Amino acid sequence: MPSNTHHRASWTARTCTWLSLLLSLEVSAAEHAPSFATHSAQYSPYFPSAPYQEPPPSCHVTQVNVLQRHGARYPTLGAALDMVSSLSKLQGRKSYPSELEFMRSYKYNLGVNSLLPAGALESRQAGKEVFERYCSRTRSDDCGEPFIRASLSERVVQSASNWSLAFSYEARSSPPPILTISERIGAKNPLENRCPNGPPSLKEQREWQDVFAPSIIARLETVDPPFGLDGLDIVNFAHLCAFESLALEATSPFCGLFREEDWEAIEYHGDLSKYFGFGHGNPLARGQGVGYVNELVARLTGDRTYIEQDTTQINHTLDSDSATFPLDRKIYVDFSHDNLIAPVVSLIGLFNDPPLNSTHPDPHRRWVFSEIAPFGGRLVVERLSCSAGEHVRILSSDAVQPLGSFCEGALANGLCRLSSFVKAMEMATAIGTEEYRRCF
Ligand SMILES: *[C@@H]1O[C@H](CO)[C@@H](O)[C@H](O)[C@H]1NC(C)=O
Ligand SMILES: *[C@@H]1O[C@H](CO)[C@@H](O)[C@H](O)[C@H]1NC(C)=O
Ligand SMILES: *[C@@H]1O[C@H](CO)[C@@H](O)[C@H](O)[C@H]1NC(C)=O
Repeated sequence: MPSNTHHRASWTARTCTWLSLLLSLEVSAAEHAPSFATHSAQYSPYFPSAPYQEPPPSCHVTQVNVLQRHGARYPTLGAALDMVSSLSKLQGRKSYPSELEFMRSYKYNLGVNSLLPAGALESRQAGKEVFERYCSRTRSDDCGEPFIRASLSERVVQSASNWSLAFSYEARSSPPPILTISERIGAKNPLENRCPNGPPSLKEQREWQDVFAPSIIARLETVDPPFGLDGLDIVNFAHLCAFESLALEATSPFCGLFREEDWEAIEYHGDLSKYFGFGHGNPLARGQGVGYVNELVARLTGDRTYIEQDTTQINHTLDSDSATFPLDRKIYVDFSHDNLIAPVVSLIGLFNDPPLNSTHPDPHRRWVFSEIAPFGGRLVVERLSCSAGEHVRILSSDAVQPLGSFCEGALANGLCRLSSFVKAMEMATAIGTEEYRRCF
């Protein structure tokens, strides 16, 4: 185990075992965690899905680009209202089925939007991990100062500052500053999803609810008169389980409504919502990733042309200035939301399954959102200098991603030539730019 920092040790002491295990970044954690924690899709805490593999010995990492979701938070207002509305169907009864006995004394007591202590810890662990992985083997100043940006909402900025603090603690330097980018309507922000003409589809989630929820409803509807639960209520109770467990740092009583096998179904519900909302299944989603991918290619190549040509979400005032868009750093870290990471991975060409079927999940699908963008989830693009030239490698939840479906000449170990990757991204951003126009 790596040595604990002070705050981490004290925080862990009051944390239930499964959560502290997951947040420890131990690869085996997922095996020992309860299913609700690892199968809550966008509401799962971060856990690595594979051990980090060192690059081949003939290569070394020359640049690291991290696109990271904010850490665990309270529900958004929309999600909170949905959960409260489902809860109201359960309240005020004289008798309850055994799974719901706790309702006699239950009080809903979650905040809205703010980063949780668990989310701050996820962000600090990530900062420490980047230092240990990329900067500690040689002299600590070898990485220089990471360039950090955050989309301007409180939970995202606090995730970035917790990351920065932990990185600097390891580096024994002062915390790198954070450049924030406005989320106001009309602002150009490559870390924010804005597609007024491309609202997420709800159809597929509803079709899947009709498949998996009836058996759970039947178990709970043993009272007279019935609660009147529908599939959406079941989903909301599953979300309550996830949110309360992260907020209370203890397993929420709502988790007890579900059986082991139910969590696969709940996870698929989240996967469908993100796939048809912000991923491959929404024809306007990929355009939202163009700004970030153009910035990524500019960093990888050191060529500003890629940002200058962007007509999507890049703020050219910021990106034309080397103080606010430098190209000489080793580590770049951008903090954002899952609804931006989903378009970016889709545009790049990752996790591209045959279309997901709303009634028949493929257990071997690659689109598993608890691994793509859980709380604190991150996509990492490494640039590698190898004896055979410059390459890239992409990791999601630490698992090396296969690039063969879009990057010509990709190798089985996940490496692809930088020039092939750039060519693939030029094609993807050209198509994505057309799609972006249709958002407005
Ligand atoms: C870390 O996140 C917490 C939220 O849990 C926040 O209160 C705190 O200010 C953050 N720390 C820094 C250094 O930003
Ligand atoms: C671009 O960024 C600058 C500096 O933060 C800001 O003043 C300006 O409003 C932004 N422009 C747009 C279109 O977002
Ligand atoms: C989903 O899969 C089922 C079973 O294979 C099939 O009958 C159905 O047509 C599929 N739905 C779609 C939209 O492809």
